[in-house]
Amino acid sequence: MQPSLPNRAIEWREHCLFLLDQRYLPLTVDFLKIETPQQAFAAIQNMVVRGAPAIGITAAYAVVLSAQQHSLANSENSEIEVIKRLIAADIDHIALARPTAVNLAWALAAMRKVLQQCISSDLVSSLEQAAIEMQQADIVANQRMGELGAAYIEKGSAVMTHCNAGALATAGYGTALGVIRSAHALGKLSSVYANETRPWFQGARLTAWELQQEGITTQLIVDSAAASVMQQNAIEWVIVGADRVAANGDVANKIGTYALAVLARYHGKKFMVVAPHSTIDMMTPSGADIEIEERADSELTELQGAAFAAPEVSAWNPVFDVTPANFIDVLVTNRGVIEAPNRAKIEALMA
Ligand code: MRU
Repeated sequence: MQPSLPNRAIEWREHCLFLLDQRYLPLTVDFLKIETPQQAFAAIQNMVVRGAPAIGITAAYAVVLSAQQHSLANSENSEIEVIKRLIAADIDHIALARPTAVNLAWALAAMRKVLQQCISSDLVSSLEQAAIEMQQADIVANQRMGELGAAYIEKGSAVMTHCNAGALATAGYGTALGVIRSAHALGKLSSVYANETRPWFQGARLTAWELQQEGITTQLIVDSAAASVMQQNAIEWVIVGADRVAANGDVANKIGTYALAVLARYHGKKFMVVAPHSTIDMMTPSGADIEIEERADSELTELQGAAFAAPEVSAWNPVFDVTPANFIDVLVTNRGVIEAPNRAKIEALMA
């Protein structure tokens, strides 16, 4: 029998973090026990956990692990300010794990604020409480975005999604997949085209798996089949998540998203981005200011460790791209929906 999706990809119990190891899903369903901030850093960097909100929540728990580690190590002699400085140094380091998803910096900024306000006796428990609340709030935000986004979908629609912006990429329910889940629950969806999403195959391995378990009719396609699907009028909407929304509404998301937005515009299909307010970065003026992560060549030249490309060919592996705001028909957030997003509308939403 096929393994089923656990309730959550991120669990906090017994003062440890348990991360569903997304590198081997769906064939192997296994949780990794994370006991130190260093292990959490590696888990983010190595794609054990991925997806912007999930990265942020993991980082928040990494700060709790840091507090536990330093409070234990310094329980006898240190003053609270020394421990706080050690935790702050860990926060600075964790922020470097991946550059594009702003939820990482957002979550760490929130935890830093809690840290600054802590008094000695409540350090670990205050940080723990903040991380738990962040995780819970993410699910509520996703459910709200699900409702708001599904209201735009007409009965009988087919949609396309890219990468995985589902329960696995968040605390639960998902952003883009949250809208798809809600539209399905309302009986509005005819089917979903899931792009396989090279080179990590988040679409083939994660999105298709999540949708299957919801009983949502799903067609897996290679990324390059998206143009044909649109040319054949087989979808009404492209629905994706985001790793960072700049202040002018430009959106960084998984590589290939920009191509889908251009295709959607050309073929008269609607393009929806679904992201919580924690993904909107008012400090980043436009998409050109977003740092795009580039990962190892081996992700393109090897498949599960076995080389298959021309020997020693060099590769370029940017894992996100930027979709300009003017290609986006609807930006769904937990604070409300913006049609045709621009700087003024985003400023108003975030005010
Ligand atoms: O490299 P990944 O798997 O972390 O990339 C994830 C994406 O691009 C998602 O679409 C994005 O983070 C939104 S998740 C709700």
